[in-house]
Amino acid sequence: MPVMSYVRNAWYVAGWSQDLAAEKPFAITVLGERIVIWRTAAGNLHALEDRCVHRLAPLSLGRCEGERLRCMYHGLLFDPDGKVAEIPGQELIPARAQVRRYPVADRHSWLWVWMGDPALADQGLIPAAVGLDHPDYILGHGQLDYAAEARLINDNLLDFSHLTFVHAESFGAGPQFAATPGRITPIERGIRYERWTENSMGSSSRRSEVPMDSFMSYDFVIPGILLMTGGVFPLGTAKACDYGQPDYSKAVSGVTFTSQAVTPMEGKTARYFFSWGPHRNHGDEAQRDLLMGIAAKAFAEDKTMIEAQQRVIDDTPNPQVMPTAHDRGVTLFNRLVEKLAREEQREQSEAA
Ligand code: FES
Ligand SMILES: [Fe+2]
Repeated sequence: MPVMSYVRNAWYVAGWSQDLAAEKPFAITVLGERIVIWRTAAGNLHALEDRCVHRLAPLSLGRCEGERLRCMYHGLLFDPDGKVAEIPGQELIPARAQVRRYPVADRHSWLWVWMGDPALADQGLIPAAVGLDHPDYILGHGQLDYAAEARLINDNLLDFSHLTFVHAESFGAGPQFAATPGRITPIERGIRYERWTENSMGSSSRRSEVPMDSFMSYDFVIPGILLMTGGVFPLGTAKACDYGQPDYSKAVSGVTFTSQAVTPMEGKTARYFFSWGPHRNHGDEAQRDLLMGIAAKAFAEDKTMIEAQQRVIDDTPNPQVMPTAHDRGVTLFNRLVEKLAREEQREQSEAA
């Protein structure tokens, strides 16, 4: 298996916005880097390297003072740009008294941190997730920690043929799921997956009384964000729209949205964030809870499989994969990641 790196010039999900209370610094490791994120009383978000320049205590144990953060070991005070503003009992502040600053944004109910060159942090690159406060959707949410590399979770989300097997019980996807691959198209910074199932009674999350055409589609974009929607349409819709994107106002039922994010943490660990729920016209809080119940079961199924897969990979000298027809999405996405990561490394070595 090729050693694959991750793209640094990207927004990674670091947490749920609602979980970050004002003046309560929060620690997370992303791509092996310890980061402290805090929200000031005035509502501003800041993120710094979570390591004091003095004796390396975590700043996440620190105290918020206005826009600044004080290390609560020996009291060094940090500006939000990472520079030390005060050293108790010492006039001179050395020029190197500075920690790294990370651009951070609060968008679509997630806290996003930019892991690359701060000068390139463009908020326009934040994927269009659907936030918990979106007026059209009734969403539940959650997160799961993985003892596995993020890329294995990305691979899982890029190949839905596993639904037939891993999720036979939870999502109730029939054998046709693995028998016919969906349509995969490259898009800006990712891939699009589209799949029509014609003349079907649906699956556990989209059950129908009469045969219908059901559609699902997702974008999977850098660094590991899945944005998926779908719905149930009258028979004949698939053909009528030439197996492309349907007009969602014509959906009969089952329109839902799920936003998911995979964040590489330290070593071979990752955090998986997700929300899911029905469109207001197609469900209510009870439907949301039903979907979240299905998701809890399904995501536990993925976790069991992927963590076991990680252990086998770790035990295997020179592990090699053998892609199948279903791996087109996996291959396209991983190639894109490798290409962008290579470009970043080249630019970095040119700059050095
Ligand atoms: S370790 Fe932070 S002030 Fe000493
Ligand atoms: Fe899955």
